Amino acid sequence: MALKEEAKNVDLYNITLAFVLRTKVHGLKYVFAPDKSRARRLFWLLAIFICLGLLFTWSWNRVLYLLSYPVVTKIYMVWAHNMTFPAITLCNQNLFRVSSLTKADLYYSGYWMDIMHLNHSVNKQSVAMLKHSRHRERMMQLLDFSDYNLPAHYEPNTTEMISRLGHQLEDMLLECRFRGENCTYKNFTTIYTRYGKCYTFNSGLDGNPLLTTLKGGTGNGLEIMLDIQQDEYLPVWGDTDETSYEAGIKVQIHSQDEPPFIDQLGFGVAPGFQTFVSCQQQLLQYLPPPWGDCRSTPMDSEYFSTYSITACRIDCETRYLLENCNCRMVHMPGTSTVCTPEQYKDCADPALDFLVEKDNDYCVCETPCNMTRYGKELSMVKIPSKASAKYLAKKFNKTEQYIGDNILVLDIFFEALNYEKIEQKKAYEVAGLLGDIGGQMGLFIGASVLTILEIFDYLYEVCCLSMTVFSALIYSGLQTCFCLGLSQINQLNWITQLTIIHLE
Ligand SMILES: *[C@@H]1O[C@H](CO)[C@@H](O)[C@H](O)[C@H]1NC(C)=O
Ligand SMILES: *[C@@H]1O[C@H](CO)[C@@H](O)[C@H](O)[C@H]1NC(C)=O
Ligand SMILES: *[C@@H]1O[C@H](CO)[C@@H](O)[C@H](O)[C@H]1NC(C)=O
Ligand SMILES: *[C@@H]1O[C@H](CO)[C@@H](O)[C@H](O)[C@H]1NC(C)=O
Ligand SMILES: *[C@@H]1O[C@H](CO)[C@@H](O)[C@H](O)[C@H]1NC(C)=O
Ligand SMILES: *[C@@H]1O[C@H](CO)[C@@H](O)[C@H](O)[C@H]1NC(C)=O
Ligand SMILES: *[C@@H]1O[C@H](CO)[C@@H](O)[C@H](O)[C@H]1NC(C)=O
Repeated sequence: MALKEEAKNVDLYNITLAFVLRTKVHGLKYVFAPDKSRARRLFWLLAIFICLGLLFTWSWNRVLYLLSYPVVTKIYMVWAHNMTFPAITLCNQNLFRVSSLTKADLYYSGYWMDIMHLNHSVNKQSVAMLKHSRHRERMMQLLDFSDYNLPAHYEPNTTEMISRLGHQLEDMLLECRFRGENCTYKNFTTIYTRYGKCYTFNSGLDGNPLLTTLKGGTGNGLEIMLDIQQDEYLPVWGDTDETSYEAGIKVQIHSQDEPPFIDQLGFGVAPGFQTFVSCQQQLLQYLPPPWGDCRSTPMDSEYFSTYSITACRIDCETRYLLENCNCRMVHMPGTSTVCTPEQYKDCADPALDFLVEKDNDYCVCETPCNMTRYGKELSMVKIPSKASAKYLAKKFNKTEQYIGDNILVLDIFFEALNYEKIEQKKAYEVAGLLGDIGGQMGLFIGASVLTILEIFDYLYEVCCLSMTVFSALIYSGLQTCFCLGLSQINQLNWITQLTIIHLE
């Protein structure tokens, strides 16, 4: 038995010695070198432990860095041969034109416009405000329902009403040019927003291909001259949340993948000025979790196919209104019933205002991973000049006063034919980690992957060796249990030795 044990130890010693002498972990052979003094061997042992300690702490540090998912943001300019022109949506600030109102419109939506009560009687306070309005005569005549016969089967259709009463682009658009080519109102598509009837240029929806520009600068963009028709604005007779005191248009420059969200993201353009908008396209690319917090999953909406913050918010507002008012507003997507003017006033408008202004939990929209935005620089000059007022008045057969109050010119163009790309990138990945750990292994213990394999190879040898001993011990243990009742210790010893020999 004792002899056997010794043989084992010798084996282990030989294997270890061979390993120590051939391994590339340099320090080890000095520790085990038999011809060195004890102090020097101790010194080498200490050095090895310090180096191992440093290796592990520094490598661990790198692993923690990898697990913190670091990112870097890269900003660069890309020069392009041509660039897709953005979609441009514009809305008049006024919802209804006075001259197109009919008695039926007033009867059914007077409550929404705040000039009538729910029981179709005229709101005296509002009418009092009409005293100085130039539309007084006409409004009073429309509001006189004394001998009015209700249409037999009148179904108020809010969509149709907004479409008919809104400002028509045919009348508003005086001139339109894109890269020197004339365009007409037919080059715009109609779209409904919270401002009512709006128009989008280059929406890509009308079957025409998307327009591109080949140069930067004013002449290579869109130039439109609009008449905002202030005379048609609905007189203001009360102070409600929906009343607008402004005159002009709201404009949004957006990518074709995104629906317009003009009441929140649009900028205003005033009549009496020519406004120059110089744009720069920016492509933003974020990383999904765990690096960043953008949303990479496709949109689970029945209304929109591509995800954008705007699409998400419109989708969410639609769901909110369907839940709370059982109807959708005219500008919302879907096929459910459109709110009647009464529902607008009593439920939809207040609910949407509440959602937009106060509720921070219902609509939480994550940033998309790919986003296109347009940086803008606005500048303006006065139009018409004193010199041109007479000419323009004659050209459009209007008074000079009218021209000054109603005409605006809008120029939208790219500043240069380049775009800015802002890209979030992974700062550290597994390859980098391996490189770092490899470098530190080299620095501290002079080892490589193959050295680690060597160590495994050594461990395997040791393992095989001890496995035989181990299994023999277990086997003998079992034998012991089994035989304890029957035999004496001596016999047991003999059997055990026999099995060990047998096993080998
Ligand atoms: C714009 O560039 C793309 C490729 O970069 C090309 O396929 C396309 O024809 C160009 N469009 C115009 C109008 O030049
Ligand atoms: C209609 O309602 C208003 C208040 O809601 C009330 O002042 C007015 O008297 C009512 N008119 C009729 C004819 O019932
Ligand atoms: C309302 O009018 C629009 C456009 O004029 C039409 O498409 C829609 O079918 C109408 N809705 C109802 C319920 O009649
Ligand atoms: C564009 O319209 C202007 C008038 O607005 C006209 O003088 C010009 O000839 C038109 N150009 C083309 C190419 O049709
Ligand atoms: C406007 O539309 C017409 C036909 O629909 C098209 O031929 C023309 O090229 C368009 N103009 C612009 C500037 O898009
Ligand atoms: C974002 O754009 C890049 C290239 O421009 C594309 O490879 C990637 O798939 C896009 N990601 C998403 C979520 O659309
Ligand atoms: C100019 O407008 C007035 C009314 O505003 C109209 O009576 C007149 O016929 C118009 N003249 C021309 C040349 O269109």
